[in-house]
Amino acid sequence: MCGIVGYCGLRQASDILIDGLKRLEYRGYDSAGICVGNSGLLNIVKRKGKIKDLREVVPLEFKGLYGIGHTRWATHGEVNDTNAHPHSDAAGKVAICHNGIIENYESLRAILTKEGIVFRTETDSEVIAHLVSRSYKGDLFEAVREAIGLLKGTYGIVVVHADEPGRIVGARNGSPLVAGIGDDEMFLASDVTAMMAHTKQVLYLEDGEMIDIRPSGYTISDAHNREVEKKIESITWELEQIEKHGYAHYMQKEIHEQPQSVLRAIQGRFNREGATAKLGGLNLTPKELLNIERVKIIAAGTSYHAGMVGAYLLESLARIPASAELASEVRYRNPIVEKNTLYFAVSQSGETADTLYAMRELQRKGATVLGVCNVVGSTIARESDGGVYIHSGPEIAVASTKAFTSQISVFYLFTLLMARTRDLSIEGGLGFVCGLESIPEYIGKALAQKPKIIELAKKYAQAQDFLFLGRGINYPVALEGALKLKEISYIHAEGYSAAEIKHGPIALINEVTPSLFLIPDDHLREKVISNMKEIKARKGPVIAVCVEGDQEVMNIADDYIEVPKVHELFYPYVMVVPLQLFSYYCALELKRNVDQPRNLAKSVTVE
Ligand code: AGP
Repeated sequence: MCGIVGYCGLRQASDILIDGLKRLEYRGYDSAGICVGNSGLLNIVKRKGKIKDLREVVPLEFKGLYGIGHTRWATHGEVNDTNAHPHSDAAGKVAICHNGIIENYESLRAILTKEGIVFRTETDSEVIAHLVSRSYKGDLFEAVREAIGLLKGTYGIVVVHADEPGRIVGARNGSPLVAGIGDDEMFLASDVTAMMAHTKQVLYLEDGEMIDIRPSGYTISDAHNREVEKKIESITWELEQIEKHGYAHYMQKEIHEQPQSVLRAIQGRFNREGATAKLGGLNLTPKELLNIERVKIIAAGTSYHAGMVGAYLLESLARIPASAELASEVRYRNPIVEKNTLYFAVSQSGETADTLYAMRELQRKGATVLGVCNVVGSTIARESDGGVYIHSGPEIAVASTKAFTSQISVFYLFTLLMARTRDLSIEGGLGFVCGLESIPEYIGKALAQKPKIIELAKKYAQAQDFLFLGRGINYPVALEGALKLKEISYIHAEGYSAAEIKHGPIALINEVTPSLFLIPDDHLREKVISNMKEIKARKGPVIAVCVEGDQEVMNIADDYIEVPKVHELFYPYVMVVPLQLFSYYCALELKRNVDQPRNLAKSVTVE
């Protein structure tokens, strides 16, 4: 969504703010701006464009030891300099940065306009600056509290006042806000990546909480204005994990990191003696696991596709009814929560509004919802009833890649756990453990197909439409491949069940629309070959992702990518990697902004 930062301390604020925004740029990058306070003035610079564009226009004499900053993913108002944050009041005494959506901003605008306020932007956020100014009677904290009491919707905000140098007030309701504690300096940000270079001691705010920071320290209060003590947590990530390490793009780095990230997701999570998995965060005993009669998984985007793989695994190996559903659909469907049903909320960022609000609705109905998240301390991770971190390390590229393979790794482990409380034998469990432990090596083999994939990307990148087709456990992988291609190359791509194509979509087939088939040597191979032939018969170009040496398939397809042979339940790992690489190289071919595709944001914290 958007990225917000705040700094107060003994150092010049502007560079700290801009460097922090750079680390948050993956959250939204339409426009950016900073406000720095000095000698009773608030100086604001803001621009449409990237952080690098902003950095070029910040004057050298832009001095001050406190300030706030914002990088925007537009929700209200077009992308231009005026609508960029920070926003200020008429007198230029108050400045604010906001992440979220103020749902009653139009009625507030009308009230303020009647009182003579002249609005300068099209944004919802500007109302906050005027409300704080209107409430200000010498105490910024009280003014912010009064102002947010009038807001409906979501916000993570940071606010400064010219007459209170060194003080920043933050408030959180529905959009993340984290505080960083330094030596005689304090930080605020949407997430920890913005402050990792300065401190690893952080505090996560909950909805309804406010924070008042100065260089010497902070106070936090809850929705009832009661001061609260919060546990100081240590960031486990290293700064070098959010560097590119010589790769051209974060996405390229994160695709190639998957042998290591999958290893991090599974290591230390096997109970070899019991031939099962160890997932302490589930907070469920084997007896409680045995009582689970159904699993439902809610998520969005790539995480939804990972959940679909998880559901397939649970049904096929643990023999337990399981399904994955779009969180955005679940929330407003008045979902029926059945007894003995275990829910999972899957979210890399742990902040996706659709998933968070669906989880809260399910919990209100008595559901037990476990989180499968990557960002430690994220809202979904903290509000869920337990869960499993995927340990994939910070995923910076907007297009999710290593998170997907780490998310499904958690479901492979959970499936093993459930299967062993049911019919899976010790031998079967040990075989599964062995298969899972070999996956990092097989992902490496799939990555080695890169030269062939680059060649195919050059050949097919000009296609206007693309079909991705798979069956069984690889159907969600086909959906994921289509999502990757469309979100970074902007080519229209659709994922389909390979069987379903003949029920209508086959009308799309022509000589310039490529169909990419996932065709492992599993029990559906012959069926998918028939589906491929149906396309070939209509002169549709066919690319096959098949097991190395599968000559029959290679003879049918126009082009092919070979992947290593694995047990059929593990094909999602080796099938998704070529699709990630293919979308990456198509996007390069088309000169797209791979890490920050147009219109997107890494974490969608609005509905
Ligand atoms: C994936 O490449 C997209 N960036 C998007 O679909 C993403 O997976 C989705 O927004 C869910 O994000 P989350 O995992 O952080 O909840």
